Amino acid sequence: MPTRILVIDDEESMCNFMEIMLTKEGYQVDSAVSAPEGLSMLKSQSYDLVISDLNMPEMSGIDVLREARSFNEDQDFIVITAYATAETAVEAMKLGASDYIFKPFNVDDVKLTVKKILSRRRLMIENDTLKKQLQGDNSFDNFIGASEGVVKLKQLARRVAASDSTVLVLGESGTGKDLISKAIHHHSPRCGGQFVTINCAAVPEQLLESELFGHKKGAFTGAVRDKEGLFKVADGGTFFLDEVGNTSLAIQVKLLRVLENKIITPVGETKPIEVDVRLIAATNSDLEADVKAGRFRADLFYRLNVIPLHIPPLRERQDDIKLLTDFFIKKFCRKLNSSPKQISTEAIELLESYHWPGNVRELENTIEQAVLLVRGDTINASDLPEKIKSPQEIGLVQETQPSTPTLESIEKAYIHYVMSQTNGKKVKAARILGIDTSTLYRKLDRYGLKDFTGSDRSKRGKSAKSE
Ligand SMILES: Nc1ncnc2c1ncn2[C@@H]1O[C@H](COP(=O)(O)OP(=O)(O)OP(=O)(O)O)[C@@H](O)[C@H]1O
Ligand SMILES: [Mg+2]
Repeated sequence: MPTRILVIDDEESMCNFMEIMLTKEGYQVDSAVSAPEGLSMLKSQSYDLVISDLNMPEMSGIDVLREARSFNEDQDFIVITAYATAETAVEAMKLGASDYIFKPFNVDDVKLTVKKILSRRRLMIENDTLKKQLQGDNSFDNFIGASEGVVKLKQLARRVAASDSTVLVLGESGTGKDLISKAIHHHSPRCGGQFVTINCAAVPEQLLESELFGHKKGAFTGAVRDKEGLFKVADGGTFFLDEVGNTSLAIQVKLLRVLENKIITPVGETKPIEVDVRLIAATNSDLEADVKAGRFRADLFYRLNVIPLHIPPLRERQDDIKLLTDFFIKKFCRKLNSSPKQISTEAIELLESYHWPGNVRELENTIEQAVLLVRGDTINASDLPEKIKSPQEIGLVQETQPSTPTLESIEKAYIHYVMSQTNGKKVKAARILGIDTSTLYRKLDRYGLKDFTGSDRSKRGKSAKSE
């Protein structure tokens, strides 16, 4: 789109001159020979820039600016004024003019001023679009769910985003702890800084300290140069400490120091350095139990637990399954460039009755697979994996089943349930069921569950990263 400029000046010769000069520069220029005419053009058309004389008979340039601002906040405005009225130029700037030009002016000065303002404008628009795009992926709107638990969670998350408090995100694997933490960062005053992640469970204990706090050259074998810790990388931004329950007591002491004093000490260094980070910690373990068992420091727990955000497991919010499924179908159709797809009511019911040990991640993987494999435009029950179809076959929820299920069908359903909870681990399942392994093998054989392997909880990208 060409850049559009409106020139307002009561002297027609001035309008003509500006029009010719700026058109030559490649802009699309209109002009108005009076302030009221200029205003009515501003109301009916959109301009990127207005260049207006200040001193006009019917209405001053200041009044034009004031009125133009009342219906368009972000139009650029240059005022032209004589040296004698420099104070009015100041007043115009206070009202939001972008710049001023003194009369008599030199043609190059005008060209330069216009160019400068338009390029600043372009930058600002680009910045705005970038920011919106960035937030797009990291927006709270992309955290799907209308169940009471999720609605409350999102309300609280939005509120804490604006603050600088430490947040503790609690939830089983795959419930969206990463997702909500990123959204908090991108809606916080620190969104211009980095969002740095480390997964404490994925980094070996000996390395974790130097990853977090950095080290000095020669601090230990292999430390061939100084290394900046991730806390330092996150300076001014947000630090996401994932699986914080998996840290040793020694690391926990150091984390406490960061929270209390905002300082870190790189390994092998004596002088601490200051860091300004906001901490979001996440865990899928029961930290309170860890505190009781002496595995987690109570003082650190209280420091982290300022604002706990609990994400309920998917099995406790069946209402969200349809919404999430539709969201993922659209997402993967777009990603795979395939035609739009739907899902049958029967298939949705199956998804709603499954217990989702891997939570939303497992649902997401299931839908991706279904979109990939389905022939035709509708995902049917038959397109879903065995593990999701089988609970119904077993009978507790099957409609053709007599209203009172047999003992056998209950036993079969229960064994199936325990097996999926333990991911197919037979020894563990037998222990939970209170029978010995050989009895379990016999029963699995009898109920046709011999090859049952449980759910396929998949874990992704578990190393430290910064983005
Ligand atoms: N409410 C939701 N709406 C949309 N997508 C979601 C939602 N919750 C989770 N997801 C998606 O599910 C996947 C897993 O989420 P995420 O990685 O945030 O979970 P997590 O709790 O951090 O898991 P882990 O404990 O394994 O680290 C991601 O692809 C994420 O985008
Ligand atoms: Mg995670």
